[in-house]
Amino acid sequence: MAKTYDYLFKLLLIGDSGVGKTCVLFRFSEDAFNSTFISTIGIDFKIRTVELDGKKIKLQIWDTAGQERFRTITTAYYRGAMGIMLVYDITNEKSFDNIKNWIRNIEEHASADVEKMILGNKCDVNDKRQVSKERGEKLALEYGIKFMETSAKANINVENVSLSLFWCCILEGNSPQGSSQGVKITSDQQKKSSFFRCIVL
Ligand code: GTP
Ligand code: MG
Repeated sequence: MAKTYDYLFKLLLIGDSGVGKTCVLFRFSEDAFNSTFISTIGIDFKIRTVELDGKKIKLQIWDTAGQERFRTITTAYYRGAMGIMLVYDITNEKSFDNIKNWIRNIEEHASADVEKMILGNKCDVNDKRQVSKERGEKLALEYGIKFMETSAKANINVENVSLSLFWCCILEGNSPQGSSQGVKITSDQQKKSSFFRCIVL
């Protein structure tokens, strides 16, 4: 089958059950929102293709189940990810406290150079907020990773987080370690450097 893209990037969404991972992905891929909670079983993915400098970039975003019983299946997908979005719910303190555990999970199962970003989702529900934006920023700063508050419902920052994580992967020259199915962005050095210039500008 003919290749329909020039670059393939694999991103992963993790976080407690109910924080809104599937909704964030649904917003990013279909620009839609569903208020019914259908908890993810195992793992799922969506694809969105963006074009840059005449190159087709395929973003493959994996959505994991937050429920503990799927942990063995979901952690198996960490290794191939170039970027990971750690999601908590700003109206749920526990989901925020658990970010530390999710980071530990990444350290155990993902590539050491994986790009990370923390998302405080549901920022449209300010009246039920339990975690201030400052606490989110502080935690991200402690780990030296990026942070943004999002709302899948009100469509706040969803486009920004996915694309900015993707930029970070490119700028860091990240590629999956030992991955046979992933497309290595380092395969053509010349092409890569001109591609980089275009992004940096
Ligand atoms: P698991 O699949 O069990 O890991 O959960 P999940 O993290 O994928 O949660 P999901 O996306 O299914 O969303 C859980 C609930 O939160 C649903 O009822 C959504 O409608 C709601 N929700 C998700 N994002 C937002 C948001 O930005 N704002 C508000 N108000 N509700 C949201
Ligand atoms: Mg889900």
